[in-house]
Amino acid sequence: MTKYKSLLLREKEEELQNDLLIRTIKGDKTSRRPVWLMRQAGRILPQYRAVRATTGGFKDLLKNPALACEVTIQPVDELGVDAAIIFSDILVICEAMNLTYDMVPTKGPVFPKVITSRADVEQLRVADGVDDIGYTIEAIKLTKQALNGRVPLIGFSGCPWTLFSYMIEGQGSKTFSKAKKMLYAQPEVSHLLLQKITDSIINYVKAQIEAGVNVVQLFDSWAGVLTPSQYNTFAFSYTKQICDALQDSGVPITVFAKGAYHALTKLSDLNCDTIGLDWTIPRAYARGIIGNKKAVQGNLDPCFLYADRAAIKQETIKMINDFGNGRHIVNLGHGVYPDTPLDNVKCFVDTVKNYEIKYS
Ligand code: CP3
Repeated sequence: MTKYKSLLLREKEEELQNDLLIRTIKGDKTSRRPVWLMRQAGRILPQYRAVRATTGGFKDLLKNPALACEVTIQPVDELGVDAAIIFSDILVICEAMNLTYDMVPTKGPVFPKVITSRADVEQLRVADGVDDIGYTIEAIKLTKQALNGRVPLIGFSGCPWTLFSYMIEGQGSKTFSKAKKMLYAQPEVSHLLLQKITDSIINYVKAQIEAGVNVVQLFDSWAGVLTPSQYNTFAFSYTKQICDALQDSGVPITVFAKGAYHALTKLSDLNCDTIGLDWTIPRAYARGIIGNKKAVQGNLDPCFLYADRAAIKQETIKMINDFGNGRHIVNLGHGVYPDTPLDNVKCFVDTVKNYEIKYS
């Protein structure tokens, strides 16, 4: 059975009321573009902050399936987006592998212990999606029930390189020089760790698919700090393994390798369905390489949402036209920033929803 046939069956079984995202990925000529925003759950919504304030913090919220379900659905209610993305974090896999982290307010993630040696890597386990990250799997099941087919649910994972960089650095970084140093100074240990992370991701994503997600997005947020050659050896090859392992899952995969514009040709040959584009990539250039082989997703500069609404409207329509008649899922070129005015986000979403596509 082809991927799209099994996808259609899954969709039919479920009777999605809004299947615009799935139909776009499949290549249907839809009358308008689907729209959602990376990091739409949390960050911008006052309703999210209200729920979060009732918990002991981000990680408590994350591990509470009922609350994770609630904040996943908030942007669907409040913004009218065409997809929900499950409320979780890319770092849950690190913890499931035995490396815990704290989410420090205003600072972000901090790992009390980091990986520096082969012995450290050997102490990590390969995570099992259901046993080790059961709270997100449970949240997915609850969310599917609560959405009741209103919109598709997107599951996600970080890519191996991005998770590796947090496990080595222990926190965010401007240069990721410690993680890059590991690649140059200890390539074998690096490959050992990247493989363990990759195996964990495959287990986790399979569990998400089993629980009912309709689409999976793989975030390689820090792809752009690597040289093209490092990217191929230490990032792309592992992302490829994941796409290959999920090929028969019947669920479309999106790969978002931020900053890896140099790898677009290779990315467009992956066993995946959609390529996420950041805002630095010229649209005609990306479409020229990807063609209509895959859907593209993106790529408005998140900072554009600070502009006035007339400009947001104009630029959003320009983006849709720039990507032409091929498959396109409207999104930003990275996650929405926390201080973005909500009315501007709504203007972005409404513009897409009111803009009819005329196929030539
Ligand atoms: O897209 C969504 O809304 C779903 C939920 C989601 C979160 N994190 C919730 C979150 C997703 C998809 C992520 C992915 C994620 N997490 C990435 C990849 C995407 C990207 O933006 O590049 C990365 C690099 C992380 C790691 C991470 N988590 C950082 C650096 C931080 C701190 C800064 C911040 O706010 O993003 C987090 C915390 C985090 N993850 C929050 C949320 C809602 C904020 C926590 C809070 O409420 O205090």
